[in-house]
Amino acid sequence: MATATAKTVQIKIKRQDAPAGNPHWEEYELPWRAGMNVISSLMEIAATGQTKDGHETSAITYDANCLEEVCGSCAMVINGKVRMACSALIDKLDQPITVEPLKKFPVVRDLRVDRSVLFENLKRVKAWVPLDGTYDLGEGPRQSMTLQEELYPISRCISCCSCMEACPQFNDDTNFVGAATIAQVKLFNSHPTGESLKRERLDALMGDGGIHECGYAQNCVEVCPKEIQLTKAISEVSRDVMVQAVGDLFRK
Ligand code: SF4
Ligand code: SF4
Ligand code: FES
Repeated sequence: MATATAKTVQIKIKRQDAPAGNPHWEEYELPWRAGMNVISSLMEIAATGQTKDGHETSAITYDANCLEEVCGSCAMVINGKVRMACSALIDKLDQPITVEPLKKFPVVRDLRVDRSVLFENLKRVKAWVPLDGTYDLGEGPRQSMTLQEELYPISRCISCCSCMEACPQFNDDTNFVGAATIAQVKLFNSHPTGESLKRERLDALMGDGGIHECGYAQNCVEVCPKEIQLTKAISEVSRDVMVQAVGDLFRK
C-alpha cells in the first residue's frame, strides 16, 4: 500500500542583495500547516535556512508588523498581483507561489522596498490638520454624523502603496502622485479644521504629476485592501481642482 506523502508548499521568491544588486529567484519547499500565509512561510524559510535543493540560504528581508492588515507594511507582488502578504492565505494561492517585491518602488533588499515617495507626496499636499499646540484652542468644530460616515472609510488608508503599484499612470514619466494621496486630499479638505489648507492642497494637485494624470483605469480600487472608494474621491477632488483653476483664471 502506498504511503501518503506529506502535503508541502512550493514557493519561489525573488531576491536581491542590495539596491543595485541583480535579482534572482530562489525556490523553497515547506511542510504545509493549516492557516499558513505568505508571512508565516517567510518565517518558516528563516527557521529552516534551506532552499528546495538543500542549499544553505540567508533569511529573507521583508517588512511586516501587525499581521492583520492594519500597518500596511507587507504589500508584495504575489502570484503576479499586488496584495498584503499577511492576509494572503497559502491554501487560496496556486502553487508554486511566486513572491516578488513591489515593482514600482526601489528595492532595498529582497522583498523590502522604499515607499517614501508616498510620504513625500502626502507632504506635498499637506495631508494633515494644521494645529497650533502652543495654546489651548478649545473644542474644534463638530463634524456631522453624515460627514463622519462619509470620511471614515478614507481614513482607513494604511499607506500600503498597493494602489500606486497597480496604477498604470504611476511611473517616472508622469510623476503622478497616485490615488492614496488624492484620497487624503479629499479627507483633509472635507475636515472642518483641515479645510483651511484646501486651496494649497488643490494647487499642489494642479502641477507636475497632479490629478490630471489619472486615466480612471480603476486598477487602484480593485487592489485597495481597505476597499476605499478611490475613483469617487478622485472625481470629487478633480472637480474641486477644476473649479479652483477656473476661478483663478477669472481672478487674474
Ligand atoms: S483610476 Fe486608474 S489612473 Fe487613476 S489612480 Fe486609479 S489606477 Fe491610477
Ligand atoms: S488607498 Fe488603499 S491601496 Fe492605496 S495606500 Fe491606502 S490602503 Fe493602500
Ligand atoms: S503585516 Fe501589517 S498589513 Fe500585513
